[in-house]
Amino acid sequence: MKLRRWVSIATVAVATVAVLNTVPATAGKPYDPTKQTLGALGLRHGLQIGTAVDMAALNNTGNPQYRRITAAEFASVTAENAMKWESLEPTRGKYNWGPADQLVDFAKRNKQSVRGHVLVWHNQLPTWLTDGVANGSISKQELRELLRKHITTVVSRYKGKVWQWDVVNEAVSDPWDNPPTLHYKGFWAQHLGPGYLADAFRWARAADPKALLFYNDYNIEAFGSGNPADDKTQFVYDMVRGLRAQGVPIDGVGSQGHLGTQYGNYNTFQVIEALEKFTALGVATAFTEVDVRSQLTDGVQAGNSEEINPRLQASAANFSVLMKACLAVRSCLSYTVWGFSDRHSWVPGWFDDPPEGLATIYDENYQAKLAYHEIKSDLILAGPPYVLPRITPKPHR
Ligand code: XIL
Repeated sequence: MKLRRWVSIATVAVATVAVLNTVPATAGKPYDPTKQTLGALGLRHGLQIGTAVDMAALNNTGNPQYRRITAAEFASVTAENAMKWESLEPTRGKYNWGPADQLVDFAKRNKQSVRGHVLVWHNQLPTWLTDGVANGSISKQELRELLRKHITTVVSRYKGKVWQWDVVNEAVSDPWDNPPTLHYKGFWAQHLGPGYLADAFRWARAADPKALLFYNDYNIEAFGSGNPADDKTQFVYDMVRGLRAQGVPIDGVGSQGHLGTQYGNYNTFQVIEALEKFTALGVATAFTEVDVRSQLTDGVQAGNSEEINPRLQASAANFSVLMKACLAVRSCLSYTVWGFSDRHSWVPGWFDDPPEGLATIYDENYQAKLAYHEIKSDLILAGPPYVLPRITPKPHR
């Protein structure tokens, strides 16, 4: 029995090596994997390497580097803001599709897949909606209907064009919130109760039978105590198991992967374990918003290399931990960075006390940083029998 398993693994391994080693021989030049893009190297494992896209930067003709790297280096794109409700429907009933459509067209032209982000979230909601609820002019019943309509409208528009949708984002509290016992937090839980999660997935599925429907959150890279009262990963795990048991069409769990070098963080095996546990629930996994920020001390800001270098190294190590874990788990379909260059990262604007930055894989002048090279080496060195092609789930009905 044991022997037979080994034989079959070996057969798969040999077959896969044969495929992966069929590398394009470009006119006499030896194949140099370091010259390949992250996107191309990821696809050798069926893994899509993606980036969040800032539409203003993409359209800035004074800055062609941004567009060039977005098009060339990545297999997948996510709208950093353009598909959020406040961007899509700033005035009630008037959708502004321009930027979101433009990204979907850009992806098509460049043969990239699209991760749709995001249908239901408590942030970046239009003020007409939040004000209406606050002043009582929008009732709970009407709010639920507005959400159904929003999901249906957006998912229908991009039906067949979006590969994965972040259907619900950041629904769960953190241990530092009040009360500290983990709970469903924010606008939607407050006004509709936690039943909105199941509704949202069902509405999304009704509008697109083939898109992979994800729950997306941060601080779920690894398990902690195992107690859902304080372990967010466990809370999300129990939530996904509950949704699956109710037959809710959830196909994936997105782990955002916003890390910081000032924290302890996880080793590769801890992250693999978490991805595998989610996989055992019958869902795919993905890293959806990876960045690894650092505190910008006075020394860092003054250009002191003794303070900068350890941060760049720690950042690279953390990017690499998530990449290796993703490669090792066959359900991990994509690895998306939340912006690729420090020039356009959301980090300095959001984490300013103390100031943080240096969170991405290219510096402000679009030079690849250590993190870029390390995740590239992970992709190049990976192969059977430990790293095998991806297994994509059939969308749940
Ligand atoms: C951030 C964007 O990067 C910023 O430009 C915007 O001002 C705020 O939102 N988790 C998410 C993303 O799911 O949508 C957030 O994006 C970052 C945290």
